[in-house]
Amino acid sequence: MIIYIQDKINRKLEGDMENNIKRERLKEFYFKIKNCQLCELYKSRTNFVFGSGNANSPVIFIGEAPGKNEDIQGKPFVGQAGKLLDELLFSIELERSEIFIANILKCRPPGNRDPRIEEINICKNHLFKQIEIIDPKLLCTMGKFSTQLILNTSAGITGLRGKIFMVNSRAVLPINHPAAALYTPSRMVVLREDFQKIKKVLDMKENFTDGIKNIEDLEVVDYSSSGSNLRAGGEGSSISQNKDEQLGLF
Ligand code: URA
Repeated sequence: MIIYIQDKINRKLEGDMENNIKRERLKEFYFKIKNCQLCELYKSRTNFVFGSGNANSPVIFIGEAPGKNEDIQGKPFVGQAGKLLDELLFSIELERSEIFIANILKCRPPGNRDPRIEEINICKNHLFKQIEIIDPKLLCTMGKFSTQLILNTSAGITGLRGKIFMVNSRAVLPINHPAAALYTPSRMVVLREDFQKIKKVLDMKENFTDGIKNIEDLEVVDYSSSGSNLRAGGEGSSISQNKDEQLGLF
């Protein structure tokens, strides 16, 4: 009995240590890239929007780029789409402090225009590094841009959403972008359904080293050899140590 309890305590301590390491690495990465000037968007930004949430999250939600409110506050999804995202998270018993939210672009494109390919190609390395550090079991790509980037495809979101793409032992689940769902009731319906799939994947206790098998209602696609863009190691630019004013890390 004593050995069992000691073993449990040791595992808890090891887990806590691993969690702290991820948090520190993420924080360090934030300081490394927060003054990024690798593309022109830095000139018009109010704030660099790193992303926020839990460094030990089992899931990263990936959006497109900061909008006006995000640019002002320095945090992702704080406008109307963010309110919907909070509500959807609540529907599967999650809150922001338990998950991590990031965008492909860390700076707002002027006038909320679509991200340009050259901006994506630069900024994606920041995102890939965040994925490498957090190492979640699930990536939930919201909308066309992040889905196409992660899966390295030009296919539309309508045909991809709601399916689970296994890339080695990581699951990728594309969903409609909440902002799109706000304006299209049919997209809202499937978005709500897809959140239930997120819950199912997260409720699975095991890691996905052997893929996902036998989950009711889930369409699983083996995508490991399909040229997904998932890889580690984006390098940021100028480093300056400063206070972590907008870093909502838990
Ligand atoms: N839309 C996004 O894709 N990201 C945000 O942070 C806000 C709105």
